[in-house]
Amino acid sequence: MTTLAFDVYGTLIDTAGVISALRTKIGAQAGAASDLWRSKQLEYSFRRGLMQNYSDFAVCTRQALEYVCNSMNLPLSHDEREELLASYRGLPAFADVTSGLEACRASGMKLYALSNGRPDDVHGLLEQAGIRDFFEDVVSTGEISSFKPNPGVYAHFLRRADCAGSEAWLISGNPFDVIGAISAGMRSAWVQRNPASIFDPWEIEPTLTVTSLLQLSTAVQNRENCSA
Ligand code: LAC
Repeated sequence: MTTLAFDVYGTLIDTAGVISALRTKIGAQAGAASDLWRSKQLEYSFRRGLMQNYSDFAVCTRQALEYVCNSMNLPLSHDEREELLASYRGLPAFADVTSGLEACRASGMKLYALSNGRPDDVHGLLEQAGIRDFFEDVVSTGEISSFKPNPGVYAHFLRRADCAGSEAWLISGNPFDVIGAISAGMRSAWVQRNPASIFDPWEIEPTLTVTSLLQLSTAVQNRENCSA
């Protein structure tokens, strides 16, 4: 049976959802602050993974926000920062997610969430978006005290889902995650919602690319039929 592991932040859940909360506090700098916040959050997770100095993803998110405030000279009070962190726990799902997941389930695939996020944060986001029930389980990289793209994270997922790399796909909007999963022996679909986003020019290409989760179920099935 085909198993799909969905990345959460940037694939199911839109991290740019913090822009409206940021805009009320810092106006026109909101877009740049949101981009820097996300890229620092990921950088901190990569560095903690390499250093084997694990603190959970919420710590990376908090420290990245602190970095953004310092580097952009944002005069945000303690309470305003807490409000922004709370809005991170209330981020919205992308518009194509519910129908895309429905189609995957209807075609008999097993769905999991596989995230750097803390289990309570991920459960909260999926429940709030009304999509928790599509998933067999939520697998957090924190279970092995590491982050993507450590190959151990993808191996841990395969053990948790009790399946082989050849029958499992990682679905992600984050190129580093797609490359990490393929390098660890899974197949992977890149969700390129924004035509301007660029895939890292490495020696590893996505197994397939979709521009919306609405295309995913058919694209995976076609690919599986080709390799059968
Ligand atoms: C996640 C990251 C990649 O949800 O944002 O795992």
